[in-house]
Amino acid sequence: METLHELLVRRHSIRRYTDEAVSAEDVKTIMEAALLAPSSKSARPWQFVLVDDKADLARLSECKAAGARPIAACSLAVAVCASPAKSDMYLEDMAIAAAYMQLQATALGLGACWIQVRGRFAADGEDAENIVRDVLGIPDDMVVECIVTIGHPDENRRPVDTAKLLWEKVHVEKWHNPGDEAN
Ligand SMILES: Cc1cc2nc3c(=O)[nH]c(=O)nc-3n(C[C@H](O)[C@H](O)[C@H](O)COP(=O)(O)O)c2cc1C
Repeated sequence: METLHELLVRRHSIRRYTDEAVSAEDVKTIMEAALLAPSSKSARPWQFVLVDDKADLARLSECKAAGARPIAACSLAVAVCASPAKSDMYLEDMAIAAAYMQLQATALGLGACWIQVRGRFAADGEDAENIVRDVLGIPDDMVVECIVTIGHPDENRRPVDTAKLLWEKVHVEKWHNPGDEAN
């Protein structure tokens, strides 16, 4: 059985998908992963909107000027939203849930990609969040952090080369600047 570390090394953003649908069982497992995500004070401020309607996916893929094309091709898109009124840590909580979904999808042999929505804009300048809220009927007071695209991979990506990890970003005991060890 694949270890968590092996999964992390294998995981990549997958942006190309076949037409095969994600099974109901896999959808349930992925959403269970989202609902298992930890949240500050266990407030669980998130809400998830699952979309497989092709016309809606196409509209969502236009929500920002660049970087949202995988939405049009995926079998399932999950909009990750939260109410700021439910927790002051809603951004962190949404991010963790989205990451859990991506990891669970990868573990199931599926591909997934995080598509940023909050803070992004369509080609005509419209706020991407407004577009997503409009397409999916999400209330105005909900923040839409991202859309996680999921599907059967139609691309192969090599596992991460762990020799290239940025160990210089890891500081032991105290902050070290580059070249410190030469002093
Ligand atoms: C906060 C965040 C926002 C991202 N937004 C997008 C996006 O809008 N479109 C996209 O294709 N990929 C997006 N990605 C995926 C990153 O581009 C990807 O994770 C990064 O290039 C590293 O590649 P990897 O996931 O294959 O390791 C996003 C990832 C994160 C964590």
